[in-house]
Amino acid sequence: MAKGGIAIGLDISTGSIKVAEVNISRREPVLTNLGIIMLPEGVVREGEIDDAATVSSYLKELWKQNKISKRRVIVGVSNQKVIVRPMDLPYMPEDELENAVKYQVQEFIPIPIDDAIVDYEVVDEYMTGEEERMQTILLAAAHREMISAFIDAVVGAGLSPAAVELKAFAMARSLVKNEYQFLEEEAESPGSVCLVNIGAGICNICIVKEGTPRFVRMLMRGGDFFTKLLVDHLNISPADAEEIKGGRSTDANANALLQREIQAFVGEVRRSLEYYISQSQERDLNKVILSGSGSKMINLPLELNRGLRLPIEIGHPLQNVQLGKLPYTPEELAELEASIAVSVGLALRDTEE
Ligand SMILES: Nc1ncnc2c1ncn2[C@@H]1O[C@H](COP(=O)(O)OP(=O)(O)OP(=O)(O)O)[C@@H](O)[C@H]1O
Ligand SMILES: [Mg+2]
Repeated sequence: MAKGGIAIGLDISTGSIKVAEVNISRREPVLTNLGIIMLPEGVVREGEIDDAATVSSYLKELWKQNKISKRRVIVGVSNQKVIVRPMDLPYMPEDELENAVKYQVQEFIPIPIDDAIVDYEVVDEYMTGEEERMQTILLAAAHREMISAFIDAVVGAGLSPAAVELKAFAMARSLVKNEYQFLEEEAESPGSVCLVNIGAGICNICIVKEGTPRFVRMLMRGGDFFTKLLVDHLNISPADAEEIKGGRSTDANANALLQREIQAFVGEVRRSLEYYISQSQERDLNKVILSGSGSKMINLPLELNRGLRLPIEIGHPLQNVQLGKLPYTPEELAELEASIAVSVGLALRDTEE
């Protein structure tokens, strides 16, 4: 449990670091601080920390800038060195389960067990045709060395890592309305929702069924891919490319190029969903909830809607928190909202059972 009821979610991403401080001691969590600091290129690449010392110095600056006094943080990770997959096991009590997972995990993950950090969550229980009680767990295994870089960066800034969690799991807490509201409004059939976070370098996909994450996939592509594409093909500056991506200026060549690549990207997302559907027999995937500033790209929601044949909603990661005194105007906060789904969700981690 967080000390003094204050929890801090820390999202070290490709383009910036985001921090959210939440008072979780009340029945309704209150967002008490929110900060963001841009990172230079190359410090975080493909979701991994390449330069821990530089990240530490930006973290110190972020803490100073936002006058954050607490140092205990929940850190998010998402990259190719984390593997998430379901595993079916006979039902057993929780204390036995931990050992069973340890014993059997190697055949499910491509990382030598001594180099891996393993975590899991029970997501389902069912009976087989032979009346055997089974459970499904979602297993997450990460390379120890990759996690170490995060710990080094955080400790190097004088902070203390309380937990490391998958960014995809964190998103589920801020982007899916909390359970009470969820059940009241959609009591008939809550179904499943697909969360898609498009950042600068990574797209995180998480399918949430009845409030529980069931499927996680990370695509190594985000908004910066499209910036680079425009810069390289049209010989324009990154700033001009951002204008085009944001729909503030247009150019026929740029639009055609973007259109094609957005469709290719949507195809990648679709294949991930198709894979999940084929594995799970899911029949009730009812919408996509978008987040990440990369998702603000012109035509992206429309193309996702066409390619996935699902309604697209813009996520509201502030829906499950009350707002404390924050140093932003409502307009600034609305602008920021897309990029804070992960940090807010990480801070809400300790509100769960
Ligand atoms: N208005 C906008 N229109 C289009 N794209 C935008 C807009 N604002 C920001 N972006 C893009 O969003 C991306 C940054 O989003 P975000 O802050 O969510 O990424 P990140 O968290 O730093 O990266 P990641 O999660 O991939 O590690 C950049 O690629 C930027 O070009
Ligand atoms: Mg991000």
